[in-house]
Amino acid sequence: MSASNDIRSLFKQFGGQPEQYQEFTRDDSARGSNVRWPLLSGSKPAAMPPVSAFEAAPAVAAPAAEVPAPAAVPQAQSEASDWSPAGLRNLLAKLADAPVPAPVSAPVVAQELPDLGHLRIIAVVSSKGGVGKTTLAASLASALGRAGRQVVAVDLDPQNALHHHFQPADTQANVMEDAGIVQAGQPWQEMGRLSEDGVLVIAHGMLDEQRRPEFEHGLQHDPLWLARHLAEMDIAEGAIVVIDTPPGPSVYLRQALSVANLAMVVSLADPASYTSLPQVDKLIAAYTQGRDTFAGASYVINQVDHSRQLNKDITQILRGLLGKRLLGIVHRDQSISEALAYNRNVLGYDPNGRGCHDILDCAQALIGRLAVVTAVTADAQ
Ligand SMILES: Nc1ncnc2c1ncn2[C@@H]1O[C@H](COP(=O)(O)OP(=O)(O)O)[C@@H](O)[C@H]1O
Ligand SMILES: [Mg+2]
Repeated sequence: MSASNDIRSLFKQFGGQPEQYQEFTRDDSARGSNVRWPLLSGSKPAAMPPVSAFEAAPAVAAPAAEVPAPAAVPQAQSEASDWSPAGLRNLLAKLADAPVPAPVSAPVVAQELPDLGHLRIIAVVSSKGGVGKTTLAASLASALGRAGRQVVAVDLDPQNALHHHFQPADTQANVMEDAGIVQAGQPWQEMGRLSEDGVLVIAHGMLDEQRRPEFEHGLQHDPLWLARHLAEMDIAEGAIVVIDTPPGPSVYLRQALSVANLAMVVSLADPASYTSLPQVDKLIAAYTQGRDTFAGASYVINQVDHSRQLNKDITQILRGLLGKRLLGIVHRDQSISEALAYNRNVLGYDPNGRGCHDILDCAQALIGRLAVVTAVTADAQ
């Protein structure tokens, strides 16, 4: 029995007792996760969003299931633990109740949302940066394109990185051009570049910092800007639009969630991501409030690393907490990050690797979720 450094430092931070930590064999790792982190698993931290359409719907596709689902831990077990009440549970409860950074307020406009009922729109979101939103947005778009769906990938993140993850269909071009949505006046259809997977990629484009505030001011005062651009495009019935966003509250997130049928939340299996989940849920709720074409949020746990006990445990706890809202997990795989050096994503770079298989599983589950979206939006119309 030994406590790892990860666990020691987490205990130190949150006032737990390392002596109570036990290493478990693979067989009882699910049970062990809950026992080792009773304050995580027993708490009601994440103030998770209300039951969505997905919860009520039958499971349409099983998520990548390398690790068995965690065994249910009776409430009494966590209540009976010796852990300090001033520990992680309190911290999590506080975080869940903490005021979320104010969503960007929208001026009230008496304009109608253009009809986007022919599209299935996915906003890829997180409250923290660097979790893999852009990477997953691009590779899932590619996977859906390869599955024969018409896919448009829109970069709403000023980092302007999404287009770097695609190989252009034009064999003469090595990289995608980065003319993008910040250049006003050009129809998006013409601006988009086709990837080798058949994804129409709409880059963000570069904007110097003097002009950025003016552009964002325009978005704040024109809440239907994205909806209008999408409605003007010539996109087939049932096409999928994947929108990459910057982390946290922003005018970009508000635009994306104002049209989304589905929010795909990307999270790491670490304490910081775990504790930020309530914030992202509150942002989603704030930006989609009252819109019946929004079918709910699905979650992907990214960069899962089973060689790290804490990472493995938090993955288990998130599985239990999210239930059917978990779309899938993507393991940490060097090929996923290396692919970018070749201006492509992992599907083209390492099609036999674990990362690629995880992405394909998530894409499969996403197609199942989109079927639910279709039912929800049909009811709403
Ligand atoms: N599953 C993964 N395995 C290994 N590296 C990953 C994985 N997912 C993302 N990364 C790497 O993490 C970093 C951040 O990813 P990125 O997509 O830019 O995050 P975000 O868009 O959320 O800021 C990048 O270097 C990317 O290559
Ligand atoms: Mg990004």
